[in-house]
Amino acid sequence: MKTVILAGGSGSRLWPLSREQFPKQFVKLFDDSSLFQKTVDRALMLSEPDEVYIVTNAKYEFRVLDQLSEMGLELPEENILIEPEAKNTLPAIFYAIKMIEEKHGDSVVAVLPSDHLIEVNDSYKKAFENAKRIAEKYLVTFGVKPTRPHTGYGYIKPGKPLDGGYEVKKFVEKPDLEKAKEYVGKGYFWNSGMFLFKSSLFIEECRTYQPVVVRLFETESLDSIYKKLPEISIDYAIMEKTDRAAVVPLDTFWSDVGSFDSLYDIFEKDKDGNVIKGECLPINSKNNFILGERLIAPVGVRDLIIVDTKDAVLVCSKRAAQKVKDVVEILKSRG
Ligand code: GDD
Ligand code: MG
Repeated sequence: MKTVILAGGSGSRLWPLSREQFPKQFVKLFDDSSLFQKTVDRALMLSEPDEVYIVTNAKYEFRVLDQLSEMGLELPEENILIEPEAKNTLPAIFYAIKMIEEKHGDSVVAVLPSDHLIEVNDSYKKAFENAKRIAEKYLVTFGVKPTRPHTGYGYIKPGKPLDGGYEVKKFVEKPDLEKAKEYVGKGYFWNSGMFLFKSSLFIEECRTYQPVVVRLFETESLDSIYKKLPEISIDYAIMEKTDRAAVVPLDTFWSDVGSFDSLYDIFEKDKDGNVIKGECLPINSKNNFILGERLIAPVGVRDLIIVDTKDAVLVCSKRAAQKVKDVVEILKSRG
């Protein structure tokens, strides 16, 4: 089986830990391996090294190569696909699938985002076995049981039972809070962001729902293709539209480490509910996320995110964690 790793996002909600030039998938957030490196390890459970493809942005090529070599891993040069511009996940996936089809013909492919923390247990492995079988006929998604009405995820309504999963009755990408609450109540899954399908079926669905993308990739040089491509994710472009999707439940620890409130959920807390990474002297302070290189002394504060780095400090209410990306937008617009 082939595996495609998506490693071209910029992770702006984790600023200033995640930077334009050094996005979160390459940051060593938890131990001495990055989320990208953990994803490569998971890919190697499914595929031989020469079957692993990585799609990333030109800006991050050297980080990919560096982190692979840290792992003692060298992939064939042609397996590292460099995008001239970031156009979200549909173009990235299409580019990789096209290369795989050209080289190997119709293939079963797993697509893995590189920004997740996942516990690999028996249920994870079983889910991939089920998915491989179901992928004979469907575009397979992996469904996680929601713990709250998160608006940053896709939601999947399961339909007709299959052997090891369900047909997808409805797929809704990033609904508003009201809808998210309704879907959690009705037993929808979160879309984990991983996919497994036959390349031929994926291309067929792209031909039906995104013919412009297919046509562009048939014609020109990569630079001019990317200039013209729409910026669109696979979720909006294909998964919300296709009637040939299935979902396999994934019963393991899974987190899209997208923002500081998700990071807060993951880490161990002290007796006052503070997550502390670094030297910190909290006094009468509760439920904060505090990370930094210097000594930080929060006094009488609650539900704050404080992140201190060499050249920038973030102070943010935990409730506003999704808004951190606005800082990055403003910094970008200033040039
Ligand atoms: N190569 C490349 N090019 N990779 C990209 C690009 C791009 O232009 N844009 C994003 N990626 C990578 C990111 O680095 C990440 O690993 C993965 O693709 C998914 O992109 P995100 O931007 O993190 O997506 P999301 O988290 O908002 O939403 C997706 O994942 C959720 C679960 O984590 C969707 O699939 C949701 O439906 C899903 O719930
Ligand atoms: Mg994500």
